[in-house]
Amino acid sequence: MKNFTHEWIEKSPWLLIGLVLLVISVGGLVEIVPLFFQKSTTEPVAGLQPYSPLRLAGRDIYIREGCYNCHSQMIRPLRAETERYGHYSVAGEFVYDHPFQWGSKRTGPDLARVGGRYSDEWHRTHLDNPRDLVPESNMPGYPWLANTMIDPATIVPKLRVMQMLGVPYSEQQVKSAPSELAGKTEQDALVAYLQGLGTQIKTRN
Ligand code: HEC
Repeated sequence: MKNFTHEWIEKSPWLLIGLVLLVISVGGLVEIVPLFFQKSTTEPVAGLQPYSPLRLAGRDIYIREGCYNCHSQMIRPLRAETERYGHYSVAGEFVYDHPFQWGSKRTGPDLARVGGRYSDEWHRTHLDNPRDLVPESNMPGYPWLANTMIDPATIVPKLRVMQMLGVPYSEQQVKSAPSELAGKTEQDALVAYLQGLGTQIKTRN
């Protein structure tokens, strides 16, 4: 039998495919597995709080309305990005996000640090009709959010799921959550969510 040489491997497609897959899996595991154990990727940044019930409800409206189709929430560590949006995103900011909203499509600006950049009033007007504030905007209006109430009964199961995923909500927080949402509109929740984005690391100059 011939020696087990490189040439021999290259002439046997199935063997080549098998070995390529083996190399890719080992290489992938070596890169990915440590991320599950590194503090910089698994521990929350100092002071990180889980979303309040109102913000969590707003996060779900963000997902429902597909805002992520046009907005990313991840600032890359590149000069052009940090000059425009602020400190680049770090993994520890997202440990309570299930699922995170990093995305990559940027029809509109990145929203990772939009919290506190505008007033609540600005966001309300902008969500009703973006062109009232930015005439050339192609972002759709979401006027119905302002007159659709949130159903407070839906929040407890959501918080329970978050607890199962390791987000440290206390029993007290879960119990009082429905009363926190009483009388709130979907727009209130979405604005609260946006105003909290990226405020854990305050570096905007
Ligand atoms: C079709 C693409 C598109 C969708 C969908 C979209 N946006 Fe936008 N968004 C834009 C564009 C373009 C801009 C920049 C112009 C402007 O400010 O209106 C923008 C701007 C913004 C801004 C201001 C950001 C800044 O730094 O100035 C916020 C906040 C925002 N969008 C939130 C949302 C939310 C919340 C949703 C979902 C309810 C959403 N967008 C859906 C395209 C989109």
